[in-house]
Amino acid sequence: MVVLEHVLRTQQFILGEPVAAFERAAAQQLRVARALGCSSGTDALWLALAAAGIGPGQTVVTTPFSFFASLSSILRVGARPVLADIEPATFNLSPKAVEAVLDGPGASQVRAILPVHLYGQCAEWSSFARLGRERKLILVEDAAQAWGAAWSGTNAGGLGDIAAFSFYPTKNLSAAGDAGMVTTNSAALADRVKMLRQHGMRRRYYHDEMGWNARMDGFQGAVLEVKLKHIDRWNEERRSLAARYHALFAKAGLAEAGPYPRHAAVLPREVEGARHVWHQYVIRAPRRDALRQFLTARGIGSEIYYPVPLHLQDALKGLGYKPGDFPEAERAAREVLALPIFPELREDEQETVVGAIAEFFS
Ligand SMILES: Cc1ncc(COP(=O)(O)O)c(C=O)c1O
Repeated sequence: MVVLEHVLRTQQFILGEPVAAFERAAAQQLRVARALGCSSGTDALWLALAAAGIGPGQTVVTTPFSFFASLSSILRVGARPVLADIEPATFNLSPKAVEAVLDGPGASQVRAILPVHLYGQCAEWSSFARLGRERKLILVEDAAQAWGAAWSGTNAGGLGDIAAFSFYPTKNLSAAGDAGMVTTNSAALADRVKMLRQHGMRRRYYHDEMGWNARMDGFQGAVLEVKLKHIDRWNEERRSLAARYHALFAKAGLAEAGPYPRHAAVLPREVEGARHVWHQYVIRAPRRDALRQFLTARGIGSEIYYPVPLHLQDALKGLGYKPGDFPEAERAAREVLALPIFPELREDEQETVVGAIAEFFS
């Protein structure tokens, strides 16, 4: 409350010192050179792509299994999205599938790869870094769900050329409304983001390029700077909760090896090289919709991220994809179920969740 009063007193409602202070602290925590606050994760993706000079006549390869903005931001800069399927074990973009696109027709237009660190676990970055190097492609991270996640000791946000975060209220690090951030180790890209988020202005009322209003509110900067001090602990709590879910499922005899479920649940796992921050704890389950109904009837919340893969969304029919094009993403959309996970979740509540799932499968 004190920090909000400070914003009211100083009337720094847009950008200003509250946002600058958060940007400095965020860059330091993530160990990246620059962090720039903006209006949402969606705008952060647009800013990242636009700052990297991606636009008409160019192609960006991304995943069909993500939130809509991972793809719509590519269309928003005027570029063409091309999709590649996901890894069944992590739900993240498959480097092998991307490589197939890069070896296929139309590869000469590909300018960038946009992997998403889905559910709080980094995409398989060793391979993407190699592909970026070998094929001279820009790597844009959609780190909207991955504050505090890392790959081989490097934080999400510092892995690619440029990255986008969301502070939507359900995210691990969340604002009190819409907010987002772009991070990069490139001073040139950071300066472009800064210019683009304010209508292309470097100097007040002199517009160098077509930008947009994508600024962060002072209130959000103030809230986020306070929360930033706690995020490491909250992420550690999420990691403990995930470990406890694993143990409870194993004890109940409900954990299947996978990759696909037959009689019970396939549990999510942290892969080698990754530090997972468990933005979501997502199981695969047979008869997923019936299981969800069963849980809802017992007052247990769950969610499906995402019920329709991007290539089958009505709004994206124009891309020309059809059912069967990305079987892993389509299968994931039928099987995934996100269980409650947040730092305050109690042990007995987790037992109730797993107990109800055991009852459903018995
Ligand atoms: C993977 C992913 N990308 C992008 C976004 C867009 O972020 P926002 O809702 O802040 O615009 C979100 C969150 O909603 C997301 O989960």
